Amino acid sequence: MSARKRTVVLISGRGSNMTALIAAASNLDYPAEIVGVISDRANAAGLGIAAARGIATKVISRADYTSKEAHDGAIDAALVSFGAEIVALAGYMRILGARFVEKWLGRMINIHPALLPAFKGLDTHARAIRAGIRIHGCTVHFVTLDMDDGPIIAQAAVPVMVGDSKDMLAARVLKAEHRLYPLALGLVAEGKARMEGGRTVLAHFADDADNSSSVVMAPDPLREETDLEHLARITP
Ligand code: GRF
Repeated sequence: MSARKRTVVLISGRGSNMTALIAAASNLDYPAEIVGVISDRANAAGLGIAAARGIATKVISRADYTSKEAHDGAIDAALVSFGAEIVALAGYMRILGARFVEKWLGRMINIHPALLPAFKGLDTHARAIRAGIRIHGCTVHFVTLDMDDGPIIAQAAVPVMVGDSKDMLAARVLKAEHRLYPLALGLVAEGKARMEGGRTVLAHFADDADNSSSVVMAPDPLREETDLEHLARITP
């Protein structure tokens, strides 16, 4: 196998997506290796998790720098010192400046808790419930200058259940995130998803032709049928 791509994860908090990436990369066949974790907050819970798994961590606080550019510059220098080839944003809560984004263009990815281009920005789950959508999800995309706007690499959809609170929906999406992000990072690391001319180019997926009639529906008609069968069995 060719060398695993050296990947640094940027976090600001809990770090559950970071943890999913570290878990995936603990398999030596996985095409990316997590070589470092950088947080802009010293109290990010993810830092302890990364350290416990033997990953080098660095705190680079905005308050220690006089300008946003200087802060971005310090992060860039840390990435270089880690020998980073790919940057994975995972709940990193700051907007990176143009110079930084341009330098890492095509090599920096982010996960967003909604099916982009719907619900960019914060508070996506409450907004999804208010909008009454039946299918919600998450997106991994290349990072470009505009927030939550870069070319999409992969998405996962989950149903919005009747009676969902925003926390219930967030928990269902988060489980999907933990499956999607390792898949998407793997595609980028293997060169099967590349950013070209402002778009994502995906390598051919052998089974795409078989999916011509596949559909994701919510409420799920199959579940309804099972319920009816179940009902038929218990009704005298
Ligand atoms: C996730 O929902 C991610 O999609 C969003 O921020 C959240 C980070 O959670 N960008 P965690 O720190 O990975 O647990």
